[in-house]
Amino acid sequence: MTSNQIREKFLKFFESKGHSVIPSASLIPENDNSVLFTTAGMQPLVPYLLGKEHLKGRRLASSQKCLRTGDIDDIGDNRHLTFFEMLGNWSLGDYFKEESIAWSFEFLTSKENGLSLDSSRLYVTCFEGDESAPRDEESKNIWMKTGIPENRIYFLGKEDNWWGPGENGPCGPDTEIFYDVTGKCGDLSHEDFLRAQKEEKVIEIWNNVFMEYESKDGKVIGKLAQKNVDTGMGLERITAVINGKDNVYNTDCFEYILNSLPSGDEKSRRIIADHMRASCFLISDGVLPGNSDRAYILRRLLRGAIRHGKKIGFEGVSSLVLKIAEKYKESYSLDVNFITPIVEAEENKFLNTLDKGLKEFEKGERDTFLLFTSYGFPVEMTIELAREKGETIDIDLFNQKMKEHQDKSRAGGEQKFKGGLAGTSEAIVKLHTAHHLLLAALQKVLGTSVKQRGSNITEERLRMDFSFDRKMTDEEKSEVEKLVNEAIEKDYKVVKREMLKSEAEKIGAEMEFGAKYEDIVSVYFVEKGDEVFSKEFCGGPHVEHTGILGKFKIQKEEASSAGVRRIKAVLE
Ligand code: ALA
Repeated sequence: MTSNQIREKFLKFFESKGHSVIPSASLIPENDNSVLFTTAGMQPLVPYLLGKEHLKGRRLASSQKCLRTGDIDDIGDNRHLTFFEMLGNWSLGDYFKEESIAWSFEFLTSKENGLSLDSSRLYVTCFEGDESAPRDEESKNIWMKTGIPENRIYFLGKEDNWWGPGENGPCGPDTEIFYDVTGKCGDLSHEDFLRAQKEEKVIEIWNNVFMEYESKDGKVIGKLAQKNVDTGMGLERITAVINGKDNVYNTDCFEYILNSLPSGDEKSRRIIADHMRASCFLISDGVLPGNSDRAYILRRLLRGAIRHGKKIGFEGVSSLVLKIAEKYKESYSLDVNFITPIVEAEENKFLNTLDKGLKEFEKGERDTFLLFTSYGFPVEMTIELAREKGETIDIDLFNQKMKEHQDKSRAGGEQKFKGGLAGTSEAIVKLHTAHHLLLAALQKVLGTSVKQRGSNITEERLRMDFSFDRKMTDEEKSEVEKLVNEAIEKDYKVVKREMLKSEAEKIGAEMEFGAKYEDIVSVYFVEKGDEVFSKEFCGGPHVEHTGILGKFKIQKEEASSAGVRRIKAVLE
């Protein structure tokens, strides 16, 4: 069973139990500054778990894009991933333990509408109780009703069987479901179960959290107004389990990437696959490589992928973007034309300096601060390189030097680090928006039968292929240029709106990408008041208003193939 089939099965199953399927929210949490990234399916739902009414009802299900950086050093082992999808179902003060457990069991084991897993290979854990909540005998009894034998239900403490998104917010005891991937474990004593878990013979596949408490600064302060259910099952992991694989990379989620890489160190190959997938989704959600917060995480992921690529003789990680977008086209719209040049630019710049930095490192240079400021080596990379050699690096010294440097010349220092690449990404974002303006202008001048047939953006120029069956006249070219430049001068707002796909089609939004389950898509409007200059299906990102684009100039208009013309244009 492929990951796409499992995702679909999961959402259909919960739909049949009265749940509304909601689209994945962005990896960048909206209205939530407590985390850099969405790390669990419940994160976008916090206000609703706390009692706010959700438009889609009290039973929801989704496949949520998640990113966890806490495990970044474990990437390349069998289980950990930076980016992953989390399948989840929620009750917002509706059903509770009884249905939640029964449905989890049904979905995992049912031959007709579930995953058909062998129930004699399942184990579960429940919360043993402490001062904040009682021992969860209730869950145990419900599990026994499904047929899980009592001796395969284990009680564990807060570290294992309590879940909340952080120190604050909704939380509660959870019950976790484990699967024997060897098929040989049989009955396990409490101790043997813990050992089998450590040895990855039994692995956790699904977590059901019974969120009826609220915590503040890590302490339970009382009960919520409603009893919620929050569940999470990693799509990549369950795909591995279903297909009898002992690691997530050996699944359709990664094979298409790994197959395009040369053979070589397996860990490096896996890191490239993981980091590139994560990077594509981050860029698609509007993160650009840079030196702080999210931007820095993205830079680190990209540079990690590039470095490991170099290690196994693979240059051109940007070529993986198209493959990743193709893989996900049924459920997410990754804009290859936007993501590729961002990756390419980072790759070109980094490869240039990497050689010099690596040479310095090999010669014995261990000054993380120098390697960072002079060669663009993320400090983690120096640490990683050192670890590969069995050495340790003094991170405190780096932090101290960084701070001293910033204190000494605040503005100057920050500017120096930001340098080139931030500028590069900005140039690409601007060209991306200019691309929308160009398509709209072409349609105004040559007619609405003009459709985009291809596109490519670098930091210097944009290129668009479009359907049209003759050479454009000089007058038409100037007219198009004039319209785009007028749109820039008018300083239109660029606004992203999520809407039903059918609705977007009805209003005639230009379409290149679609979505499957989520019939909710994003459309970018270039507009002012009631006047709409352009509306296009697009994952973004774009500038916020057109006034900052500069002057638009067509450099070339030529034939691309039969019935298709090509324009190259720049922003000056
Ligand atoms: N939110 C729960 C988790 O991430 C389901 O494990």
